[in-house]
Amino acid sequence: MGVLSRIATSDGHGENCSYFDGWKAYDNDPYNPVDNPDGVIQMGLAENQLCHELMEEWVKKNPTASICTEEGASKFKDVAIFQDYHGLPAFTKAVAQFMEKVRGGRVKVNPDRIVMSGGATGAQELMAFCLADPGEAFLIPTPFYPGFARDFCWRTGVKLLPVECKSWNNYKVTRAALEAEYEKAEKANIKVKGLLITNPSNPLGTMMDRETLRELLVWINEKKIHLVCDEIFAGTVFSGEEFISVAEVFQEDPQSYDENLVHVVCSLSKDLGMPGFRVGIVYSYNDAVVRCGRRMSSFGLVSTQTQHLLAAMLSDDEFMSKLMVENAKRLSERHEKFTSGLAGVGIRCLESNAGLFCWMDLRRMLKEATVEEENKLWRVIIAEVKLNVSPGSSFHCSEPGWFRVCFANMDDETMQEALGRIRAFVSRVNEVEKKKKKKRWEKGLRLSMPKRFEEMSSMTPRGIMSPHSPLVQAT
Ligand SMILES: Cc1ncc(COP(=O)(O)O)c(C=O)c1O
Repeated sequence: MGVLSRIATSDGHGENCSYFDGWKAYDNDPYNPVDNPDGVIQMGLAENQLCHELMEEWVKKNPTASICTEEGASKFKDVAIFQDYHGLPAFTKAVAQFMEKVRGGRVKVNPDRIVMSGGATGAQELMAFCLADPGEAFLIPTPFYPGFARDFCWRTGVKLLPVECKSWNNYKVTRAALEAEYEKAEKANIKVKGLLITNPSNPLGTMMDRETLRELLVWINEKKIHLVCDEIFAGTVFSGEEFISVAEVFQEDPQSYDENLVHVVCSLSKDLGMPGFRVGIVYSYNDAVVRCGRRMSSFGLVSTQTQHLLAAMLSDDEFMSKLMVENAKRLSERHEKFTSGLAGVGIRCLESNAGLFCWMDLRRMLKEATVEEENKLWRVIIAEVKLNVSPGSSFHCSEPGWFRVCFANMDDETMQEALGRIRAFVSRVNEVEKKKKKKRWEKGLRLSMPKRFEEMSSMTPRGIMSPHSPLVQAT
């Protein structure tokens, strides 16, 4: 018998996957323009660092919002002793206001339905605990955020069953694919309790349209299962169509759907670049879920100090409106610069208008369309190009050759450095290709393009190396 529990000794945390391995490679050798210019650039972290100075300015101009200033310290005791799991009324009201703003003012958000949690991470676990028992499952369209294995499944024992979506139709989730996976689960005696979607998508940066959301609502109602919609990237939409929340589609026609089945998860981690504040929200139309979720939220409350500061910031309507406009503008500019830089060397990304990343298509660089080949290429990118990007397989993408590349967690200079490295890599690949082509031409053979990166890496002095993890691995 083990000394520790099954949960403690399982690797359900999901840390042993390439998504997190890439982070370890970065931690081992982090890029710094002065101290470590040849280090690994972190492009595996979906963090929004483009507007922090505006929030910093606001904090300076509003010293009463903080208890750590002369002007605000008189609130110290009130903040220090408050621990009600309903949250500060001013906070839940301000969060509701923010959620409405991000949803274009077309959704009514009731502060009394807001349940706090430690980031969307805690919110997802809270959802799983409220909606399913161990062994029961949620369907989830691919590709999806690797952290869900930890957030939704690890401690709850709930399963996620991937529903394959493909690039040919921009990864649109279809009724046929849902039905097929649902039936498969039934045959395997697995009870499907719901569908978990992420809109806008991580890793794709695309949004679901109104019709798709309507179809999903209809489908989950037919099946009498839950719909959990992770809208953590709702405030990162930077161009094109407006974001449509599942709450908007539900509220347009509430009689047509069972309100007890609809739940939204969001947080301030991506929209405002505040993952450190650990503000996560469950917004459910189901009264029992709100009640139970609130009790459970005792395990992951947002600190009252954070609530106090954010209540003031989020309710400053003028500031928030300007911030959101500026946020979208900066994200759009960064996305444009980065994707056109990639296009300049012939690398295409899936068209997107949200998120903090793009979905880069390197399929043509694979010798074969296999996960092994994708991993080989990924290791070259980490070890040789020194960029931590995340391979599609870590997002359960069924087509090898796609990579998620984050672009909003760095300054302009670092992004240019990353583009420079990609440019150099591609031209080295092309050079090798040209030489090989010539040789083979002379031999009367045709060179197949995908061999390139392998040949190239064997020519470089370092060769392919596995990123070494500085972290203690769970056994
Ligand atoms: C889709 C999705 N859900 C949840 C999370 C967790 O976010 P938080 O930092 O708020 O816990 C992330 C973080 O990347 C995410 O991408």
